[in-house]
Amino acid sequence: MIVAIDGPAASGKGTLARRLAGHFGFAHLDTGKLYRATALHALASGGDPGNAAVAEAGARKVRAADLGDPRLLEEDVAQAASVVAAIPAVRQALIAFQRDFAHHPPAGAGAVLDGRDIGTVICPDADAKFFVTASLDARARRRFKELRGCGGNAIYERVLQDMKNRDARDSERRTAPLVPADDAFVIDTTALDADAVFALALDHLGRVRAAKAPPRR
Ligand code: CDP
Repeated sequence: MIVAIDGPAASGKGTLARRLAGHFGFAHLDTGKLYRATALHALASGGDPGNAAVAEAGARKVRAADLGDPRLLEEDVAQAASVVAAIPAVRQALIAFQRDFAHHPPAGAGAVLDGRDIGTVICPDADAKFFVTASLDARARRRFKELRGCGGNAIYERVLQDMKNRDARDSERRTAPLVPADDAFVIDTTALDADAVFALALDHLGRVRAAKAPPRR
Protein backbone atom coordinates (compact mmCIF):
# COMPACT_ATOMS: atom_id res chain seq x y z
CA MET A 1 0.00 0.00 0.00
CA ILE A 2 1.38 3.42 -0.97
CA VAL A 3 0.05 6.58 0.68
CA ALA A 4 1.01 9.91 -0.92
CA ILE A 5 0.76 13.12 1.09
CA ASP A 6 1.50 16.50 -0.50
CA GLY A 7 1.17 20.06 0.66
CA PRO A 8 2.97 23.32 1.43
CA ALA A 9 5.37 23.98 4.33
CA ALA A 10 3.97 23.65 7.87
CA SER A 11 0.59 22.46 6.62
CA GLY A 12 0.72 19.41 8.89
CA LYS A 13 1.58 16.87 6.20
CA GLY A 14 4.64 15.57 8.05
CA THR A 15 2.69 15.06 11.27
CA LEU A 16 -0.06 13.22 9.41
CA ALA A 17 2.48 11.09 7.52
CA ARG A 18 4.23 10.03 10.76
CA ARG A 19 0.94 9.21 12.48
CA LEU A 20 -0.41 7.16 9.58
CA ALA A 21 2.88 5.29 9.24
CA GLY A 22 2.89 4.56 12.99
CA HIS A 23 -0.74 3.44 12.97
CA PHE A 24 -0.37 0.99 10.08
CA GLY A 25 3.25 0.01 10.74
CA PHE A 26 4.29 1.44 7.36
CA ALA A 27 7.66 2.95 6.49
CA HIS A 28 7.75 6.76 6.18
CA LEU A 29 9.83 8.94 3.87
CA ASP A 30 9.90 12.73 4.30
CA THR A 31 10.97 13.53 0.74
CA GLY A 32 11.73 17.15 1.65
CA LYS A 33 14.84 15.75 3.37
CA LEU A 34 16.18 14.63 -0.03
CA TYR A 35 16.00 18.19 -1.36
CA ARG A 36 17.41 19.54 1.89
CA ALA A 37 20.31 17.04 1.72
CA THR A 38 20.91 18.05 -1.91
CA ALA A 39 21.05 21.70 -0.83
CA LEU A 40 23.42 20.86 2.02
CA HIS A 41 25.81 19.01 -0.32
CA ALA A 42 25.68 21.97 -2.73
CA LEU A 43 26.35 24.51 0.05
CA ALA A 44 29.14 22.34 1.52
CA SER A 45 30.88 22.20 -1.85
CA GLY A 46 31.09 26.00 -1.75
CA GLY A 47 29.02 26.27 -4.92
CA ASP A 48 25.80 28.11 -5.74
CA PRO A 49 22.72 25.90 -5.09
CA GLY A 50 21.00 27.71 -7.97
CA ASN A 51 23.60 26.43 -10.42
CA ALA A 52 22.20 23.36 -12.19
CA ALA A 53 25.52 21.44 -12.33
CA VAL A 54 26.33 22.10 -8.66
CA ALA A 55 22.81 21.16 -7.55
CA GLU A 56 22.68 18.00 -9.67
CA ALA A 57 26.06 16.88 -8.28
CA GLY A 58 24.60 17.46 -4.79
CA ALA A 59 21.54 15.33 -5.59
CA ARG A 60 23.71 12.47 -6.86
CA LYS A 61 25.58 12.41 -3.54
CA VAL A 62 22.41 11.94 -1.45
CA ARG A 63 22.30 8.70 0.56
CA ALA A 64 19.82 7.40 3.14
CA ALA A 65 22.39 8.04 5.88
CA ASP A 66 22.29 11.82 5.13
CA LEU A 67 18.62 12.15 6.02
CA GLY A 68 19.11 12.32 9.80
CA ASP A 69 21.62 15.22 9.69
CA PRO A 70 20.33 17.93 12.09
CA ARG A 71 21.65 20.66 9.76
CA LEU A 72 18.85 19.73 7.35
CA LEU A 73 16.43 21.54 9.67
CA GLU A 74 18.12 24.94 9.33
CA GLU A 75 16.18 27.71 7.58
CA ASP A 76 18.93 28.58 5.09
CA VAL A 77 18.98 24.91 4.05
CA ALA A 78 15.16 24.98 3.62
CA GLN A 79 15.42 28.04 1.36
CA ALA A 80 18.25 26.49 -0.66
CA ALA A 81 16.20 23.27 -0.87
CA SER A 82 13.40 25.08 -2.69
CA VAL A 83 16.01 26.55 -5.06
CA VAL A 84 17.58 23.18 -5.98
CA ALA A 85 14.08 21.64 -6.14
CA ALA A 86 13.19 23.84 -9.12
CA ILE A 87 16.04 22.32 -11.19
CA PRO A 88 14.72 19.46 -13.39
CA ALA A 89 17.98 17.45 -13.26
CA VAL A 90 17.81 17.44 -9.45
CA ARG A 91 14.24 16.15 -9.43
CA GLN A 92 15.17 13.51 -12.00
CA ALA A 93 18.17 12.36 -9.94
CA LEU A 94 15.98 11.85 -6.85
CA ILE A 95 13.11 9.93 -8.51
CA ALA A 96 14.64 6.44 -8.27
CA PHE A 97 15.31 6.73 -4.50
CA GLN A 98 11.68 7.73 -3.85
CA ARG A 99 10.07 5.11 -6.10
CA ASP A 100 12.29 2.40 -4.73
CA PHE A 101 11.27 3.35 -1.17
CA ALA A 102 7.58 3.38 -2.15
CA HIS A 103 7.64 -0.01 -3.87
CA HIS A 104 10.13 -1.76 -1.55
CA PRO A 105 9.59 -0.14 1.85
CA PRO A 106 12.39 -0.98 4.29
CA ALA A 107 9.78 -2.03 6.90
CA GLY A 108 6.13 -3.04 6.96
CA ALA A 109 3.64 -3.73 4.22
CA GLY A 110 3.38 -0.21 2.95
CA ALA A 111 4.94 3.21 2.61
CA VAL A 112 3.86 6.75 3.37
CA LEU A 113 5.70 9.44 1.41
CA ASP A 114 5.19 13.15 2.02
CA GLY A 115 6.33 16.02 -0.16
CA ARG A 116 5.14 18.28 -2.95
CA ASP A 117 4.77 15.99 -5.99
CA ILE A 118 4.23 12.49 -4.62
CA GLY A 119 0.67 12.05 -5.86
CA THR A 120 1.31 13.84 -9.15
CA VAL A 121 4.78 12.68 -10.30
CA ILE A 122 6.51 10.18 -8.00
CA CYS A 123 3.62 7.80 -7.29
CA PRO A 124 0.71 8.72 -9.56
CA ASP A 125 -0.72 5.22 -8.87
CA ALA A 126 -0.61 5.56 -5.08
CA ASP A 127 -3.46 3.74 -3.32
CA ALA A 128 -4.44 6.88 -1.42
CA LYS A 129 -3.54 10.53 -1.94
CA PHE A 130 -3.90 13.45 0.43
CA PHE A 131 -3.32 17.14 -0.15
CA VAL A 132 -2.85 18.84 3.21
CA THR A 133 -3.02 22.61 3.25
CA ALA A 134 -3.72 25.61 5.53
CA SER A 135 -3.77 29.40 5.25
CA LEU A 136 -0.40 31.13 4.91
CA ASP A 137 -0.92 32.90 8.23
CA ALA A 138 -1.73 29.67 10.11
CA ARG A 139 1.32 27.95 8.64
CA ALA A 140 3.65 30.86 9.43
CA ARG A 141 2.34 30.96 13.02
CA ARG A 142 3.01 27.21 13.42
CA ARG A 143 6.55 27.47 12.06
CA PHE A 144 7.19 30.54 14.27
CA LYS A 145 6.02 28.62 17.37
CA GLU A 146 8.22 25.65 16.40
CA LEU A 147 11.30 27.85 15.96
CA ARG A 148 10.68 29.71 19.24
CA GLY A 149 10.05 26.34 20.94
CA CYS A 150 13.57 25.26 19.91
CA GLY A 151 14.98 28.26 21.77
CA GLY A 152 15.53 30.41 18.67
CA ASN A 153 14.73 34.14 18.46
CA ALA A 154 12.64 33.99 15.28
CA ILE A 155 10.76 37.09 14.14
CA TYR A 156 7.21 36.42 12.91
CA GLU A 157 7.37 38.80 9.92
CA ARG A 158 10.58 37.14 8.76
CA VAL A 159 9.11 33.63 9.07
CA LEU A 160 6.02 34.77 7.11
CA GLN A 161 8.16 36.29 4.35
CA ASP A 162 10.41 33.19 4.09
CA MET A 163 7.33 31.00 3.80
CA LYS A 164 5.82 33.25 1.10
CA ASN A 165 9.07 33.08 -0.88
CA ARG A 166 9.21 29.30 -0.62
CA ASP A 167 5.48 28.90 -1.49
CA ALA A 168 6.00 31.05 -4.59
CA ARG A 169 9.06 29.07 -5.75
CA ASP A 170 7.34 25.72 -5.11
CA SER A 171 4.04 26.65 -6.80
CA GLU A 172 5.40 28.58 -9.77
CA ARG A 173 8.21 26.29 -10.90
CA ARG A 174 7.71 24.53 -14.23
CA THR A 175 8.81 21.05 -13.15
CA ALA A 176 6.52 19.28 -10.67
CA PRO A 177 4.92 22.39 -9.17
CA LEU A 178 2.97 22.09 -5.93
CA VAL A 179 -0.58 21.26 -7.04
CA PRO A 180 -3.11 18.76 -5.67
CA ALA A 181 -3.47 15.58 -7.74
CA ASP A 182 -6.94 15.37 -9.35
CA ASP A 183 -7.78 12.39 -7.16
CA ALA A 184 -6.33 13.75 -3.89
CA PHE A 185 -8.45 14.04 -0.75
CA VAL A 186 -7.92 17.65 0.37
CA ILE A 187 -7.67 18.48 4.07
CA ASP A 188 -7.54 22.13 5.13
CA THR A 189 -5.92 22.13 8.57
CA THR A 190 -6.26 25.89 9.28
CA ALA A 191 -8.82 25.24 12.04
CA LEU A 192 -8.03 21.58 12.81
CA ASP A 193 -5.66 20.03 15.33
CA ALA A 194 -3.48 16.99 14.56
CA ASP A 195 -6.03 14.54 16.04
CA ALA A 196 -8.86 15.90 13.88
CA VAL A 197 -6.68 15.69 10.74
CA PHE A 198 -5.68 12.12 11.60
CA ALA A 199 -9.34 11.13 12.13
CA LEU A 200 -10.36 12.59 8.74
CA ALA A 201 -7.49 10.79 7.01
CA LEU A 202 -8.28 7.44 8.68
CA ASP A 203 -11.89 7.80 7.64
CA HIS A 204 -10.87 8.42 4.03
CA LEU A 205 -8.42 5.50 4.07
CA GLY A 206 -11.17 3.25 5.41
CA ARG A 207 -13.33 4.16 2.40
CA VAL A 208 -10.42 3.64 -0.01
CA ARG A 209 -9.61 0.21 1.44
CA ALA A 210 -13.28 -0.85 1.39
CA ALA A 211 -13.55 0.16 -2.28
CA LYS A 212 -10.44 -1.89 -3.14
CA ALA A 213 -11.40 -4.98 -1.15
CA PRO A 214 -12.52 -7.93 -3.29
CA PRO A 215 -16.31 -8.40 -3.20
CA ARG A 216 -17.56 -10.94 -0.63
CA ARG A 217 -19.16 -14.11 -1.96
O1 CDP B 1 9.04 20.76 6.10
P1 CDP B 1 8.77 21.80 5.09
O2 CDP B 1 7.44 21.64 4.46
O3 CDP B 1 9.09 23.19 5.54
O4 CDP B 1 9.81 21.59 3.90
P2 CDP B 1 10.25 20.24 3.25
O5 CDP B 1 9.08 19.33 3.05
O6 CDP B 1 11.40 19.71 4.02
O7 CDP B 1 10.76 20.67 1.78
C1 CDP B 1 11.81 21.58 1.57
C2 CDP B 1 11.74 22.04 0.13
O8 CDP B 1 12.01 20.91 -0.73
C3 CDP B 1 10.37 22.55 -0.33
O9 CDP B 1 10.20 23.95 -0.14
C4 CDP B 1 10.33 22.17 -1.82
O10 CDP B 1 10.90 23.17 -2.60
C5 CDP B 1 11.21 20.96 -1.90
N1 CDP B 1 10.46 19.69 -2.08
C6 CDP B 1 10.04 19.36 -3.35
O11 CDP B 1 10.22 20.12 -4.28
N2 CDP B 1 9.43 18.16 -3.58
C7 CDP B 1 9.20 17.31 -2.57
N3 CDP B 1 8.61 16.14 -2.84
C8 CDP B 1 9.58 17.65 -1.26
C9 CDP B 1 10.20 18.87 -1.02
